[in-house]
Amino acid sequence: MASSAILCITLALINSICISLAFDTRPLLDICVTDPTGIGKCKDPKFVTANDFSMTGLDRPRPFNSYGVAPVFASAATIPGFNTMGQTFIRVEFAPNGFLPPHTHPRASEIIYVLEGTMEVGFVTSYPDYKYYSKVLNKGDVTIIPFGLIHTVRNVARGKSVITASFNSQNPGFIFVPDSVFAAKPAINSTYLAGAFKLYEKTVKDLQTKMWFI
Ligand SMILES: *[C@@H]1O[C@H](CO)[C@@H](O)[C@H](O)[C@H]1NC(C)=O
Repeated sequence: MASSAILCITLALINSICISLAFDTRPLLDICVTDPTGIGKCKDPKFVTANDFSMTGLDRPRPFNSYGVAPVFASAATIPGFNTMGQTFIRVEFAPNGFLPPHTHPRASEIIYVLEGTMEVGFVTSYPDYKYYSKVLNKGDVTIIPFGLIHTVRNVARGKSVITASFNSQNPGFIFVPDSVFAAKPAINSTYLAGAFKLYEKTVKDLQTKMWFI
């Protein structure tokens, strides 16, 4: 507690931007609507309107990407009033057979709610257990993904499925495992990856040429 207070004061002396961007909880102000004229600045409350805190059309159909996924973000990136609130919300449509590759959010736990369809959602605990907890969720079901754990999300309905998810971070972070490993720039040494994944090096090199999750 004391050390985080010191950190805040130190950062405040260096640059108040650090506080608004680097911390999720315990905001110093009621609101800090992102000022489009300066990164990290709060908009003068005189110019703040109700529209700064909301967004419309989250349910508007969007094109599916190559994984059969169409996400929409309601976050500080898309809604200026979300800044410093420590939360991110998404709505995601999945085409039949659509899925998210195994991924983690290093800075957030995630609550997933199924609006429509049927989704299989699971997460893997850390070393040395690697226990995989997975479940098929139907419309109206909710689940949680613990902080930072690798998880799997896929549509197992015959048709499309729709979920919403909320994260307890303004910037949960997205680490897609296949991308991080095989699409790193510059590439991770393929001899090393072949050893790590017990694959032929040519398989690794092939994987390294693929297009991954965008
Ligand atoms: C990868 O590591 C191997 C073994 O250490 C080395 O021989 C090879 O030159 C490295 N490859 C590249 C592209 O650096």
